[in-house]
Amino acid sequence: MDPIRNPYAPGAGQRPPELAGRDEQLAAFDVVLERVARGRPERSLVLTGLRGVGKTVLLNALRSAAVRKGWGTGKLEARPDQSLRRPLASALHQAVRELGHPSQEEADHVLGVIRSFAQREAGADAKLKDRWSPGIDAPAVRGRADSGDVEIDLVELLTDVGGLAADKGSGSPCSSTRCRTSARPTSPRSAPPATS
Ligand SMILES: Nc1ncnc2c1ncn2[C@@H]1O[C@H](COP(=O)(O)OP(=O)(O)OP(=O)(O)O)[C@@H](O)[C@H]1O
Ligand SMILES: [Mg+2]
Repeated sequence: MDPIRNPYAPGAGQRPPELAGRDEQLAAFDVVLERVARGRPERSLVLTGLRGVGKTVLLNALRSAAVRKGWGTGKLEARPDQSLRRPLASALHQAVRELGHPSQEEADHVLGVIRSFAQREAGADAKLKDRWSPGIDAPAVRGRADSGDVEIDLVELLTDVGGLAADKGSGSPCSSTRCRTSARPTSPRSAPPATS
């Protein structure tokens, strides 16, 4: 076997030269993207399967499809012992950057909401180092996504990020990894996210 053309792709999440048997899932996800882009309701996807069956590789392929259509995407890994705020904020920060919204002012406002969401975890009297928000320069937007009730805060956060994406006529799927067994790409307004 020619070592350069060898199709063997060892390693978790390594895309093989031939993504075998996934046409159906890729086509179904294209439908999701098109429906959500038109503001039509669509359900989230959850990828499940035995270890090593190809969840991460497929999730990455779905993400690439979303990026090609101009969506902002983010990836996060949920862990039972960790709050969702920081990793979700990082994933959405990445999604907003990918969107490349033409108005810096509007993008900064949404980044400020993301920062506000992330910082709420630390509490108002936390030390500076605990209030640091990864890579977001925009000032936190007080009174948005920072109530401390995660159900209220998620709605405000995803509404604002989805609104920014809708301005551009696209969406903002988010993907996450949880417990090795499930993954779900998400749509902007219904706020779905995922796993690998
Ligand atoms: N559709 C596919 N065709 C051929 N090879 C594939 C396909 N999907 C995944 N693989 C290969 O299978 C291996 C495992 O893939 P992947 O890491 O995506 O599995 P996983 O389900 O995420 O595993 P885990 O449960 O450990 O997270 C990789 O080497 C990858 O290249
Ligand atoms: Mg995996």
